[in-house]
Amino acid sequence: MLIDILIVGSGGREHALGWKLAQSPKVGTVYHAPGNGGTLNNVEIEVHEIEKLAQFASEKKCLTVVGPEVPLAAGIVDTFTKKGLAIFGPTKDAARLESSKIWAKNFMKRNGIPTARFEIFDDAAKAIEYVNSVDYSLVVKADGLAAGKGVIVCNDKPEAVSAINKILVEKSFGASGAKIILEERIDGVEASYIAISDGNVAYPMATSQDHKRIYDGDKGPNTGGMGAYSPTGVINAILAKDIQKNVIEKTVSSMKKEGILFCGFLYAGIMVKDGKPFVLEFNARMGDPECQPILMRMESDLFDYIQASIDGTLSHLPPISWRRQSAVCVVLASKGYPESYPKNEEILGLDVQDQDSYVFHAGTKRVDGKVLTNGGRVLGVTATGDTLQDAISHAYGRIAKISWPGKYCRTDIGKKGLTL
Ligand code: AMP
Ligand code: GLY
Repeated sequence: MLIDILIVGSGGREHALGWKLAQSPKVGTVYHAPGNGGTLNNVEIEVHEIEKLAQFASEKKCLTVVGPEVPLAAGIVDTFTKKGLAIFGPTKDAARLESSKIWAKNFMKRNGIPTARFEIFDDAAKAIEYVNSVDYSLVVKADGLAAGKGVIVCNDKPEAVSAINKILVEKSFGASGAKIILEERIDGVEASYIAISDGNVAYPMATSQDHKRIYDGDKGPNTGGMGAYSPTGVINAILAKDIQKNVIEKTVSSMKKEGILFCGFLYAGIMVKDGKPFVLEFNARMGDPECQPILMRMESDLFDYIQASIDGTLSHLPPISWRRQSAVCVVLASKGYPESYPKNEEILGLDVQDQDSYVFHAGTKRVDGKVLTNGGRVLGVTATGDTLQDAISHAYGRIAKISWPGKYCRTDIGKKGLTL
């Protein structure tokens, strides 16, 4: 019997998850809630409407796969599990690895997982006193979820003081910023290491590197991610083994020791300095846009790994196999993102057929047969190639054929991977 799937979320990551799962011979219909202009079988339920999602999954007897962090942090997995519904992702307690940076830092500290040294404050005066007492650069982080904006990397003490005031005094992130972390800034090279876990063991997905800043050369403010490629030379085989053992497996086994099974995608944002990994953050989900190039390279059936992760039988499966090719995803955004930007602009050039590339939708909607922009990150043009350079050329070739008035993308996605 074929299994129907409900994918929760509306971004490029969710489009890619649905695209990959639909290729499984074991999967029937893939529904998306709420989905976007590129996904099929969209259901008009938002990601925070957990009861409605559960009702739909129950009626259609779906297995549910959760994309974004907000419903995970709100306990969607706990609710579904109580109702006897199959769902892939961490429970609310397990998702604290992402939803509370303080919880995650303390967890890493007590379990010897490599991360930058830090202190926690809820009082601005005491935090500023600390800034003046240390002789290294700092990063100021709001404790809770802040849509990727709650981290301020500071160049000097005045910047750290103004970040503290922004979060603790002006309360720019509301309750998410009731407490802050002051963390040592580590200057190295970043990469994403994502694994899939059933709470007992964890299998690595392919490595990747994100491009968080809006402008070429990693300039400008942080975004949700402007592009990614896989695999990345930042993580060589030796480093991958180190991260797998000392970050991923240690996290899963320490969580288990503390009475929490981490089931789902476990994403470690890693800073590599002098050949050593430091965890900058954990996410309790797949990365967006890392998911797009990773899944383009995945040879194994994703459904098998998701089912085994839910069943606790991941160790029965072989390691995931990957295409040797490189893959690159370039995000096409609305000009103005990550600040304000126009919507409802018609996108042209989407119907060009091409074997080795795929245009994943994110902020789009379909109206009267037209595809319109509907968000900041609009499309993720993802292409493969025998080399990273081939994949990059291929992706930008495809992008040249897509147009709308406010189309913006970085022109250097993947470039930093060419010199590693
Ligand atoms: P996070 O959400 O914690 O990953 O932080 C967002 C971004 O801030 C990261 O991708 C890094 O570029 C940067 N960052 C976070 N922590 C540090 C750190 N300790 N040192 C240097 N950069 C950092
Ligand atoms: N691309 C970074 C993230 O998904 O958090």
